[in-house]
Amino acid sequence: MPAQFCFRALGAVVTSLLMAQLAGCGGGAAADAPVAADPAVPTEVPMAPRPPQVPPAPAVPPAPVVPPINPPVPSAPAPAPAPAPAVLALDLSGAANYTAIRLPAYYDARVMDKDNTPQSQRASDAAATLGRVLFYDRQLSVNNTIACASCHRQDQAFGDARRFSVGFAGGATTAHSMRLGNLRWYAPGNMFWDKRAASLEAQATQPIIHPVEMGFTAAAGGIPALLSRLNAVSYYPALVSAAFGDPTLTEARLATALAQFQRAMVSTSSKWDSGYALNYNPALPDAGLGAPIASFTPQEERGRVLFMGNPGQGGLACVACHAPPTFALTANARGNGLDAGASTVFKSPSLKSVSRSGAFMHDGRFSSLQQVVEHYNSGVQDGPALDNRLKAGNVPRRLNLSAADKAALVAFLTTLDDTSLATDPKFSNPFRP
Ligand code: HEC
Ligand code: HEC
Repeated sequence: MPAQFCFRALGAVVTSLLMAQLAGCGGGAAADAPVAADPAVPTEVPMAPRPPQVPPAPAVPPAPVVPPINPPVPSAPAPAPAPAPAVLALDLSGAANYTAIRLPAYYDARVMDKDNTPQSQRASDAAATLGRVLFYDRQLSVNNTIACASCHRQDQAFGDARRFSVGFAGGATTAHSMRLGNLRWYAPGNMFWDKRAASLEAQATQPIIHPVEMGFTAAAGGIPALLSRLNAVSYYPALVSAAFGDPTLTEARLATALAQFQRAMVSTSSKWDSGYALNYNPALPDAGLGAPIASFTPQEERGRVLFMGNPGQGGLACVACHAPPTFALTANARGNGLDAGASTVFKSPSLKSVSRSGAFMHDGRFSSLQQVVEHYNSGVQDGPALDNRLKAGNVPRRLNLSAADKAALVAFLTTLDDTSLATDPKFSNPFRP
């Protein structure tokens, strides 16, 4: 379980060492070690018992004595040879609108208070446009093979349906990639699963210098090498000038541009959104969140009651941590009890479009929403990080849900899917394939 091991090890280490630790996960082994990347084989599941040894039939040449129990995971394909320079197909005359987006009325003061856009930074469409190009540009990896978008795919809610993603040299990440929708509503100090990055700006260069992800390590020249590469690419001077007034790309500008592009990935167009929009009432203490949604099927509505309701009202209070309308994790949420004795408090990406993922939790251990729901139903483990809200008295809470209620919860989670964000051209690949 490489991911868990690494995250546990991280808990005790001072922040400045975290990246180095994660990068190597205890001395560089993880970068080279084969990782069970097959999403169909959760590492938590005990290995299948050895098949009984069949004596070879006399006439047939002897079969291999014990078939391998755990066939070697086919090693990831070697990185493709550096592709020909990509062709940018972007109309620079009119930048798309990233900043003056119309948010629904229910993104009211309660929500806008949580906007993490830096005060000092004017959001600009030109900077977000530069961010879009950077996000999709494979030249951000040392061998020109991997872009941010390789692991954060628009049609997968800017996450990766695979349990682990594949980096520039074919190595697998040790954590599951995160969906990026609604990042704008997280309190400072909350980027990455283990919250080790203070902001989107601070996060932006981390994948680039990561030895598995994009490979601009210190040995490869680091961010300065990347900047001199990008400053020599034909399309950047104009994009950088439009965004910042002069043509030179710096580390700060790169971080700002990527952060602005990602902050624009706001999810407001799910089935739940259009239903709740009709119920929103700022005068009510719960702003109408408790009201039935007319467009929901009975099953979705039952799931909504379970998700939103407090215990005592027949609900499970998922809402206490995964807060609407953004479904970002609340700042005070502690752990959800994945492992006994766990002491690291992880974040969760917004649950918007969660059903587009194929793997769930920081290490992608669950491959379906049914498994996620079963975790909350019967699997929560005790430990120092476990949130009190997932305890009953002093022990992990058991929900004893019926099969119908479990299915209803999954149906509700699926109503958070946002097709617009997954298909909006302004977030799509600006390069010609
Ligand atoms: C090789 C795959 C890969 C690449 C390339 C990659 N990422 Fe990620 N990204 C991940 C993984 C895995 C995580 C979770 C890592 C962790 O928490 O340790 C992550 C986490 C993030 C987060 C944190 C989200 C949150 O909710 O806290 C952001 C933001 C992000 N990536 C943006 C980017 C940007 C911008 C780039 C390009 C500069 C990029 N990523 C490149 C795999 C990748
Ligand atoms: C005490 C806070 C808390 C409560 C209550 C809670 N969760 Fe979570 N949830 C989390 C945390 C923290 C994570 C991420 C844990 C990790 O990956 O280590 C998470 C992860 C998830 C994920 C996976 C997200 C992803 O991107 O992989 C889903 C789905 C989810 N929760 C659904 C629910 C449902 C349904 C309920 C109610 C039954 C619920 N949660 C109750 C804190 C909470």
